[in-house]
Order: sequence, then structure tokens, then C-alpha cells
Amino acid sequence: MSHGTPAPVPPADAATWWKRGVFYQVYVPSFQDGNGDGLGDLHGIEQRLDYITGLGVDAVWLSPIYDSPLLDFGYDVAGYTTVGADFGDLETFDRIVDGLHRRGIKVLLDYIPQHTSSEHPWFKDALSGRHSAHRDWYLWADPAADGGPPNNWASAFGGSAWTLHEPSNQYYYHAHLPQQPSLNWRNPQVKRAMFDVMRFWFSRGVDGYRIDAVWRLFKDQQLRDNPQGSDTDSFEIAGAMAHSSVRQLQKYTADQPELPGVLAEMRDVANEFDDRVLMGELHLSVERVAALGAKPGLDIPMNFALIDAPWNGQSLGDLIVRYEQALTPRAWPNWTLGNHDRSRVATRLGPERLPGAMILLLTLRGTPTLYYGDELGLPDQPVPPGRERDCAALAAPGQGLGRDPERTPMPWTNAPNVGFTTPEATPWLPIPDPAPGQTVAEQEKAADSLLQLVRTAIALRHRSAALSVGTISVVTATADTLAYTRHADDERWLVIISFSNRPTETAVPDQETWTVALRSDQEWHPRINDGRLVVPPYAAVVLERHEQPEE
Ligand code: GLC
Repeated sequence: MSHGTPAPVPPADAATWWKRGVFYQVYVPSFQDGNGDGLGDLHGIEQRLDYITGLGVDAVWLSPIYDSPLLDFGYDVAGYTTVGADFGDLETFDRIVDGLHRRGIKVLLDYIPQHTSSEHPWFKDALSGRHSAHRDWYLWADPAADGGPPNNWASAFGGSAWTLHEPSNQYYYHAHLPQQPSLNWRNPQVKRAMFDVMRFWFSRGVDGYRIDAVWRLFKDQQLRDNPQGSDTDSFEIAGAMAHSSVRQLQKYTADQPELPGVLAEMRDVANEFDDRVLMGELHLSVERVAALGAKPGLDIPMNFALIDAPWNGQSLGDLIVRYEQALTPRAWPNWTLGNHDRSRVATRLGPERLPGAMILLLTLRGTPTLYYGDELGLPDQPVPPGRERDCAALAAPGQGLGRDPERTPMPWTNAPNVGFTTPEATPWLPIPDPAPGQTVAEQEKAADSLLQLVRTAIALRHRSAALSVGTISVVTATADTLAYTRHADDERWLVIISFSNRPTETAVPDQETWTVALRSDQEWHPRINDGRLVVPPYAAVVLERHEQPEE
């Protein structure tokens, strides 16, 4: 370990942008096509900066834009410091960074340190022989006695995580596709090269990284077998879960003892620049997520628990309390309802629960990340056999597996190809018929759309110290109801969410002092009678308390 004692980092204060901010994930292939080839790109994003600004978000996380054969749609990087020709060029990228910065919005890139593409020159050199300069940049092991893979480690996409390189009679490890060989983070040259990649984009003005598969950076040096998981465990790539081989716990292939040390080194690199943020992908318990946020390293160790939690007030209340109890003062919470790897929230919960889910996400303590299209309530879209693009689907074509359904193009208008690409183009994933009212154009006009609710909730969060950085306290957590308060200085807010298909009743203390700041349904006019509020099915409300003026 070369990092020694990490530079002291003062705990980020409450005003830090990434604590107060709302993050928006743009999955580049599906946001907007700017050149008519059917694949989203930087040029397209440039046309949509005003939409992003109108949402009120503070930071945009762009999925990978690098040079890539696109077998995992950019998560297979063949060149870390070049923009892939399919996505655009460096000039367009610079203009986006500048355009977003001028609008007061920060930019995060996806940083993919766990593996390269097999097309990366480092790996090509590694294949050239056991003594090549880059051989040890990857993970090699001799065959087992029977000539098979060295152990039982399974790839996230199914099958063994080891592929035999016949000319040298050694296996190399790949946590994902065979075309995504894992880098050897115990090799100091790898660290140096990958830290320089961070510096490259930081120097171009990038405000932070979402670090891909960071929990998997190290693997057990003794190559011990992983234990099998059970059906109740949650797995990283939901679409591939049906492959029994991937129901394996990552005991020896993720979250190894060296991880916090290298995260601290990454933090040191970020500290060479002003005010940058590191957020990292971890599929771990909230306790482990909180522990990783307790030390200098990841500012936002990503918490996916809302995606997996049973959707009722009791389970969500318990989850919030568990997470809050695990967080040290230094560790800052974060929440999300979806991403490009998981079935969309609209499909998981159904449309009637969406307004409450958005109010929850945007009023919890901790940085929220919103996945593009979720602000419209876009559901998963069926992708027919023959049109599947995700490697997790192509491993077992036509079986409805994989992550294509949650990655379909953003529906902007009711025009042909929904304004995502030119009418003549064949979009990379099929364009569905948006349900009535699902497009951006329609939702911008309708006062009661989900988009308007999300915008209002974000604006509310911005104007309130309590909602953005105040404390949280769960007051009711039953199967039907979740209620919590947010508090800072003399501000107090009460959020009530119903999980029931019938009207429910909730106690609201100090009835005189609350005003309705936001509600899930414009038709509903919440009234508190005798300290009780009747909440319609699945409704949610945010109440703000006005302190009584002193007599
Ligand atoms: C992460 C990404 C996922 C990708 C995988 C391999 O889990 O979110 O999309 O397939 O890493 O890079």
C-alpha cells in the first residue's frame, strides 16, 4: 500500500453541494440521439440541457461515454480518455460541461476501474505472453487439476468468471463478460494509470465520479470458493438473476479488506482538485454502506435498499431507522429508486404508488438520485426477441431476461420515434407507444403530472434546510402508513405516505400549525380534524409547520 496516511479531510459541512443536491442519472444511449443513428449521444444531451435545468437537479451523472465496443453499452472501455465515436467527441463533451456549469449544474462521469474491455491495448498486450508488460495488470490463474477453471467464481452475467487463454494455458478473471477482463488493483502500475484517468477528467472540469462496480475491486488472493446465495438474497444484476449460477454471494470477490485503503487513495486524488465528489456502486447491506461512508473514501457509497425493500410503511420505516442508526456523523446518506440495471420503479410499484414513492425519495435525509424517465413514470418496456441488446439478455435470448426494458428511449413528444431520434432512424432499442400522458411534452402541460410533482418536490427541498440537510425521525411505520419528520433550526416538516388501497387515518399533532406544502394528488385537500388526517389510498402529503409568532 503506498497511500500512507490519507490527507485529513474536514467533514463536509451541510452546505456542501452534493449533500444539498439532487442527482439525475442520464443513461446516454437512450436520452437523446443528436446525429440520427438511433443511439443517444452527447450532441443529443446538449439539446436537452434546458430540460435538465427545468427539473431543478443539481448534478448530472452520465453513463459511460468512452471509446468502447459497446458489448455492455460503454461499461467495456477500450480507451479511458477518449470519447467514443458513437457518443460524440471531446469538444461536445467540453461544451456540455460548460453549458451545465453555466446553469449551476455539476457533472459526474461513470468511472470504470474494475475492468477494461478486452479491446483495450493493455489487455491485448497482456494476451501476448506470460511475460508481457501488462500481463500482471489483469488477474491470471493456472487451471485446476482437471484443467477446468481455478475455482467456482461466477460471472454476474452467468457462467464461470474465468476464461481460458489457450496459448498461455492460464485463466483470466472477469466479474462480468469475458470481454470485460478485471484489472489487478494490487499492481501499483494499475493504480497509477487509473488514478491518472481520474485526473484527466477532473482537469477537464468534471465534478465527480460514479465509480462502477467499485465493491468488486479486489478478489481473494487465495481464490477461495464463493458460497451459494439463497432466493432471498439480492443480487447485482437483476436481469441475470434467473441464471442459477449467478446466485452466488460475493464473499471472496467483493468488499475485500483492501477496499477502504484504495478508496482513501481515490479520495486523495480527488482532493488534488477543489470540491469533487466520489460516489460508488456497492451491493452491500446498509450497515456496510454506512461503514464505508464513515472514513475518507466514497462521499456517496451508493445505497440501493429502496429498490429491494418491500413497499410498505413498516419495512421502509425499519429500513430508514436501520440506516440512520448505522451512519456515523461523517457518513452522509443517499437513496435511489432505480437505475439502468434494475426494473423501473413504475413497473415494480405500479402507477398508483409512484407519486408517494417520488415524495419519499425527495424528502428523505440523504442525496437522492433520480433515474431518467422515472420522473415521467415510464414503465419497463417489453423488448421482443431479435431486438434485445443487453448482454445479460443475449446470454439467454428470448427469455425476457436482461436490462433492456429499463433502458428504452426517453419519450419526449408524441412524434414518430417520440422525439428521441429522427423519424427515419431505427432506434437502438424499440420505441414503445407511450401511454397517454407519458411524454415530456404532455407532462409539461399538465399541472397534475408526475413530472410537475417531481419538479415541485425538488424545488421544495431546495428552499428548505430541514428537507435537504435536516435530521429525520420516523414517527409512524405500520404496514399502511409511513410518517416522518424533518427538522432544522425552527423548521419542522411532516411527511405522511399511505401504502393502503383504502383510506387511512393518521395522527397529526398540533393541528393548528401545519400547512400543506405538497400533496400527491391535486384533487385532495387534506384537512386535519381533531389531530387526525384522513389519507386517500396511496396518497402522500408534505406538511410544513409554521412556528406561532411570539405574543
Ligand atoms: C455495473 C453497471 C452495469 C454493468 C456492470 C459491469 O454494475 O451498473 O451496468 O453491466 O457494472 O460494468
